[in-house]
Amino acid sequence: VRIVSVVGARPQFVKAAPVSAALAGRVDEVMIHTGQHYDPEMSDTFFAELGLAEPLHHLGAGSGSHAEQTARILTGVERVLQDDRPDAVLVYGDTNSTIAAALAAAKLHVPVAHVEAGLRSFDRGMPEELNRVVTDHLSSLLFAPSPVAVDNLRAEGVTSGVHMVGDVMVDALLRARDRVAVPHPVATALGLRAGEYAVATVHRAATTDDPARLRLAVELLSRLELPVIFAVHPRTRGALERAGLLDGMERGESSVVHLLPPVSYLTMIGLMAGARAVLTDSGGMQKEAYLLGTPCVTLRDQTEWVETVEAGWNTLVGLDAARARAALASRAPLERPELYGDGHAAERIVDALLAGC
Ligand code: UD1
Repeated sequence: VRIVSVVGARPQFVKAAPVSAALAGRVDEVMIHTGQHYDPEMSDTFFAELGLAEPLHHLGAGSGSHAEQTARILTGVERVLQDDRPDAVLVYGDTNSTIAAALAAAKLHVPVAHVEAGLRSFDRGMPEELNRVVTDHLSSLLFAPSPVAVDNLRAEGVTSGVHMVGDVMVDALLRARDRVAVPHPVATALGLRAGEYAVATVHRAATTDDPARLRLAVELLSRLELPVIFAVHPRTRGALERAGLLDGMERGESSVVHLLPPVSYLTMIGLMAGARAVLTDSGGMQKEAYLLGTPCVTLRDQTEWVETVEAGWNTLVGLDAARARAALASRAPLERPELYGDGHAAERIVDALLAGC
């Protein structure tokens, strides 16, 4: 059995690592890197830390408008699939790389297997939501991370090929946890002790692309009354510069904001594990914070990872600074049930792939 797997953006490298390891020796895997993320700290660092093999194909798609980026990936993936004729194409998550690879494969009648199927924010204003919906409807094998994801698929009439396998990010985190130092040297170098700082990231279009909303996010982070380590995505750095918000941000109104470039996977896990709280609009970090037992304050109005909110570990605050401060002041629950599987999702995915190909 030969599988082509397609990755391109930071969280996909994390998701692919445990699956690639589980495929090794059982399935012939050919990896395509679309080049959606290309800066060394957004890509190479992840491959090195996660022990991912160098992809056989690099499409070099780079940045651009949604249509430009998606189109470049679509034609690049099609070329590889025409030459390679794999038994299935494995795609991850909800990025433009995901939808482009799924569409290229489906049109060539190559079965699509989607890891992280069935997630919904029910906000079609998010590019990721459009990518999720379309990818799921193009897929023959749908690997859902949670029962809620299975229910979402059923509500859209998708029941065939659905496997509830758990979340591969749990697999990745369980492998990484023993490799990270807490307190992390990056926090220590900033003079921050475990439990006495927050970690923040912001990169969604809905937060970064409107200068007024970006300003709200900056104000929120600078009024937390707690030092903040803010790892800045290149998209966000560009938006902050254009809005004239970068200068002076480190002298927050009531909290010091330490701006860092994007940090590696293991560094982020170490920083989150030692943090009092995580503030983010990322999907993956909401779950990682939960798994690490660090409360999360999500800078959005809705989430795909509803279970973390129901369990009391994640609070949706939008960009409301007062609600963020209130969430930080509240006590973490005592219980932290296993929401997203036991860390063996990747093996289940490979078993189902072999049974389905
Ligand atoms: C993408 C995904 C998002 C995912 C995120 C993970 C889409 C629509 N969005 O968002 O779902 O959560 O990845 O990080 O696919 N840039 C660089 N260097 C890089 C990569 C990006 O400078 O290596 C800058 C460019 O200015 C680029 C911008 O970041 O235009 C946005 O990058 P893009 O890949 O379009 O989307 P992300 O915001 O990373």
